Amino acid sequence: MSAVGKLVVLGAGNVGGSLAQRLAEADLAAEVVLIDIVDGLPQGKALDIQESAPILGFSTRVSGSTSLDALEGADVVVETAGLARKPGMSRSDLLEKNAGILKLHAEAVRAKAPKAVVLVVTNPVDVMTYYFREVSGFPAARVFGESGTLDTARFRTFVAEALRVAPKDVTGFVLGTHGDSMVPLLSLTSVGGVPLTKLLPADRLQAIVQRTRSGGGEIVNLLKTGSAYYAPSASQAELVRAVVRNEHRLLPVSAMVSGEFGEKDVYIGVPVVLGRGGVERIVEVDVTPEERALFQASVRAVREDLAILARRPK
Ligand code: 2OP
Repeated sequence: MSAVGKLVVLGAGNVGGSLAQRLAEADLAAEVVLIDIVDGLPQGKALDIQESAPILGFSTRVSGSTSLDALEGADVVVETAGLARKPGMSRSDLLEKNAGILKLHAEAVRAKAPKAVVLVVTNPVDVMTYYFREVSGFPAARVFGESGTLDTARFRTFVAEALRVAPKDVTGFVLGTHGDSMVPLLSLTSVGGVPLTKLLPADRLQAIVQRTRSGGGEIVNLLKTGSAYYAPSASQAELVRAVVRNEHRLLPVSAMVSGEFGEKDVYIGVPVVLGRGGVERIVEVDVTPEERALFQASVRAVREDLAILARRPK
């Protein structure tokens, strides 16, 4: 028996398609619906995923639609729609175009799925999550962004490679914005409980931090025609599962801060407890003065993009 009825993925590109596949295979809900403006794309990907059910053994029904009416009654909505980066572009370069798409979608979610929990993935994600919440009028707890779970997965991968240990044994947090000023917290990273700072010298740690910061760009440069989707969709599926199964997971997401970490009225990557109602609470942690300064720089970068968004014609 599934915990919820309906999961909707907006956008049937590489990220949306892979996510729909992961959600169906995890049998998290009775129904997964893919929505995209390009006729044939969501229907085709949905049918293809559905036809894997007899082999993989999941019961979730998967369908595709070009109509936002298919949002009706969704329990969880994941916003993946929008343009992806090409080589040489920053996530902020996507701001104007993606804001137009998100506005339309946030209005539709408000009308058709007023009780949904919303995960925003579209870049620049901290800014887009803020905007989605504003347009939807939803409580901040029910709208959050991906950011830190993906960056943390990359960080953990690089640490595991450097130490030749199992990736799942590396735990840690990347906070701040999902952008060049993200903040991998070395002081809170451990491997099977052993502090990372005791396992690797400072110069190697700094190289890992740098590679994490440009982790998305590294993939864009390799693919040349788009951005990452396997690790992003894995991280999104982890977040959706935490909500659907009411797991109370402690994970880094982009959440609206109201005084935590000394900031307010901005969406930024922080550790939260995630359950059926979305963000249950933000968990404040002690960081070093250097990490705090980086976090503040991160918030400034998001506020600069929010100011650009505010100047956009309504
Ligand atoms: C990434 O970091 C696309 O922002 C996404 O790969």
